Amino acid sequence: MTIPRLGHTNLGLGVGLRTTHFPYILEHWPSVDWFEVISENFMDSQGRPRYVLEKVAEHYPVVMHGVSLSIGSTDPLNIDYLRRLKALARDIKPRWISDHICWTGVATRNTHDLLPVPFTEETLRHIVARVRLVQDYLERPFVLENPSSYVQFRGSTMSEWEFITRLAEETDCALLLDVNNVYVSSFNHDLDPAEFIRSIPHERVVQFHLAGHTNYVTHLIDTHDHHVVDPVWELYRLAHRLTGGVSTLLEWDAKIPPFETVHNEVLKAKQFMEEQLPTGEVEPVRFFDLSTSLPPIAVHGRDDASWVPHPLHRVTAEVE
Ligand SMILES: [Fe+2]
Repeated sequence: MTIPRLGHTNLGLGVGLRTTHFPYILEHWPSVDWFEVISENFMDSQGRPRYVLEKVAEHYPVVMHGVSLSIGSTDPLNIDYLRRLKALARDIKPRWISDHICWTGVATRNTHDLLPVPFTEETLRHIVARVRLVQDYLERPFVLENPSSYVQFRGSTMSEWEFITRLAEETDCALLLDVNNVYVSSFNHDLDPAEFIRSIPHERVVQFHLAGHTNYVTHLIDTHDHHVVDPVWELYRLAHRLTGGVSTLLEWDAKIPPFETVHNEVLKAKQFMEEQLPTGEVEPVRFFDLSTSLPPIAVHGRDDASWVPHPLHRVTAEVE
């Protein structure tokens, strides 16, 4: 089923374009529906990565996904970053450009992390103004994603889903709903992930992210190095039902398996696509008990037990 949302077509089931898969993709041109690329991995590259990206963009729909915009920072917007982002978009013509509702640094220092913002009126005014500037500058559809988080601010005066809703409505931007991030943040902050998903403006969601995380019993970390766990698939089922289905992308950024494994993981989404309920007949979803449905604790695949992969590890100087 193809449903245009804010003018965007459902691209189907895609995967993130990763360097380790370049040889496979160039040899087999797999039947994946679309690719998402990490903008920062290609913005300054004119070598083999850019060559491969341009070839991929000739064969598949492509979306650009960034991790360094820092839309929530109090620093001025980085115009040089935006200039390079726009130049890449001009070359590869993505369907849209996305980044996260977060800040990554202050006073020009980059923490290389996706840090949460306080959900207050002041933050909302600040980010709304910056999103409008970014939209005007990029002159392309701009999409914002809910990050995973590990702390909350006592000063927050609204829920994350209310903040996201008001941000999207006041800027008229689209949303990237990361279903795994909803699960991770909800577990860490003792929230109801189904309420989160039910409470955002579904008509503005143009893309889903799916990923694996690591369970540390007391908290979850968004590591992107595992299969998607069953509770996240159940949340995807709910999100799919409420939106009618939008472009779905699997992120796998550490301990990356062969391309076929990553592709097969996102194809599992077909099992959770149910008929869209008629408007007004959305029933309470059957849901899991977070306390009893935790996935097994992951065994780290690295010798250094203190090393925890993180989504920002996907940003690498990948020059072959
Ligand atoms: Fe994501």
